[in-house]
Amino acid sequence: MLIVRGALFLVASLGAILLWLHLKKPYVWILSAQYLNKYAKEDKTTYSKEEKPPVQMYGRLLNLASNALAEKEFKQEKSNFWEEQYQKASVWKPCADKKDSESLGKPDKSNGYLMVSANGGLNQQRVAICNAVALASLLNATLVLPRFLYSNVWKDPSQFGDIYQEKYFMKIMKDDVNIIKELPSHLKSLDIEAIGSLITDSDIVKEAKPSDYLQKVLPLLLRNGVVHFLGFGNRLGFDPMPFQLQRLRCKCNFHALKFVPKIQQVGSLLIKRIRKYDFAQSMLDKQLLGDFMPSSASKMNDPTRRPSRYLALHLRFEVDMIAYSLCEFGGGEDEKRELKAYRESHFPLLIERLKNSKPISPSELRKLGRCPLTPEEAALVLTGLGFKRGTHIYLAGSHMHGGESRMYPFTSLYPNLVTKETLLTASELAPFRNFSSQMAALDFIACATSDVFAMTDSGSQLSSLVSGFRTYYGGGHAPNLRPNKKRLAAILSENSTIGWNSFEDRVRKMIEEGQRVRIRGFGRSIYRQPRCPECMCKS
Ligand SMILES: *[C@@H]1O[C@H](CO)[C@@H](O)[C@H](O)[C@H]1NC(C)=O
Ligand SMILES: *[C@@H]1O[C@H](CO)[C@@H](O)[C@H](O)[C@H]1NC(C)=O
Ligand SMILES: *[C@@H]1O[C@H](CO)[C@@H](O)[C@H](O)[C@H]1NC(C)=O
Repeated sequence: MLIVRGALFLVASLGAILLWLHLKKPYVWILSAQYLNKYAKEDKTTYSKEEKPPVQMYGRLLNLASNALAEKEFKQEKSNFWEEQYQKASVWKPCADKKDSESLGKPDKSNGYLMVSANGGLNQQRVAICNAVALASLLNATLVLPRFLYSNVWKDPSQFGDIYQEKYFMKIMKDDVNIIKELPSHLKSLDIEAIGSLITDSDIVKEAKPSDYLQKVLPLLLRNGVVHFLGFGNRLGFDPMPFQLQRLRCKCNFHALKFVPKIQQVGSLLIKRIRKYDFAQSMLDKQLLGDFMPSSASKMNDPTRRPSRYLALHLRFEVDMIAYSLCEFGGGEDEKRELKAYRESHFPLLIERLKNSKPISPSELRKLGRCPLTPEEAALVLTGLGFKRGTHIYLAGSHMHGGESRMYPFTSLYPNLVTKETLLTASELAPFRNFSSQMAALDFIACATSDVFAMTDSGSQLSSLVSGFRTYYGGGHAPNLRPNKKRLAAILSENSTIGWNSFEDRVRKMIEEGQRVRIRGFGRSIYRQPRCPECMCKS
């Protein structure tokens, strides 16, 4: 027994030494072959200086982390963070589709037609759809099936019916709102802008109140019989909001929007390959994958065949985000220049604003928790939480800034990294390639059905909607890991002195704090935090 233990310890130490050596030599890259495959193809076209050395900001902590991983490698224990930290999480049950006597129901008489052309990507559009449903109810309007604006950023011509099941959506909402597929023909020839019924985002304040709509929009609707919202990003606030309208938004988001079979099918394939298992395991699977993930009680009980567990990570480290943040990420002058050039060509308004305001230094921004997490920081957090080196990780998102050189510190700690590009064959992915929203839908599915979901930016729409979905359907068994960037920055500012135990301790406390079971706070998104009486019921 002792000899075996001793031998294991030796192997573990050897692993630690090798890892350590390997971290010390920045030009030795061992990347997972799968990973290389993806980023070699995608990023080298975008970034011509391909042979960049790895970028890391926390050499000392990375060494400590790899030692910690090597030590754990052969131990049985697993991280607590695979489970929800608070038992109270499971008392909340989905109930936004419950009929009650106070439901508003459809109006006796329609005040006119409400059209929406939603901007942004998949998730921003989803929010716009459900806000439009609530607004149609508020205004007693007939909702025309929302349209999606084509944007030069997302470059995706997909429409509602390419992403969501139209008939299903109309069926689920039929007792609440009148919805039609297209504007009646006698109104089609109207010049909506000329009659003053075109409402852009500059006409309505962000997070506007229902009363704003009753004052500004209802008269237009009554006069012209139609209004058209162009953009409609983030234009309906969360409080104050009548109970029944809030409930409608929840019903829309959690019950009425089902991905089309094409997406469900390939989403199921993706999940089956990550889990190496063919059957649905939870309500989340059922909701997202429909009939493409069969449930089979008998097979589920077979203890010899268990699904392989995985962590999904949404690492929002794309160039738009990091350029906009004005932070520095340890990439030296080259990177600073690159991000500055990106800002100048993509964010003229930001540049204008900067000219007229007192600059905040990058280190100040970091202290305030305003900097997007790097892959390196994400990996350090996961190690601090006790996730083992062999953890299967699904990485959501696309075009990580800096490609391999940035991902290197991550993959050196966690080599088992997969993406939709590595799990699916080129031909399976081909029908989605040209449609960024449909690609994002696959990420949505893989993140929402994961055993644990880690995000680096809780403000991002994907992270926000996915964590809300997991709260709603996860039954208290779908943990979300949400770092507090300000607290993390304080911990990392001690990177040159902090001991590993203390690092672990503080990272764990930070994440646990974010997992507390609270009722949605005033003004907070019901899509992200559905734990509130409008959406969920306590059992
Ligand atoms: C909508 O219709 C209901 C009755 O169906 C009515 O009580 C309410 O005042 C109407 N609201 C508007 C804005 O027309
Ligand atoms: C995707 O777009 C490219 C360029 O526009 C085109 O050549 C290609 O055929 C498209 N692929 C699919 C599957 O639609
Ligand atoms: C890492 O530690 C050094 C030395 O204390 C400090 O100057 C630096 O700001 C820290 N890095 C970050 C990103 O906080």
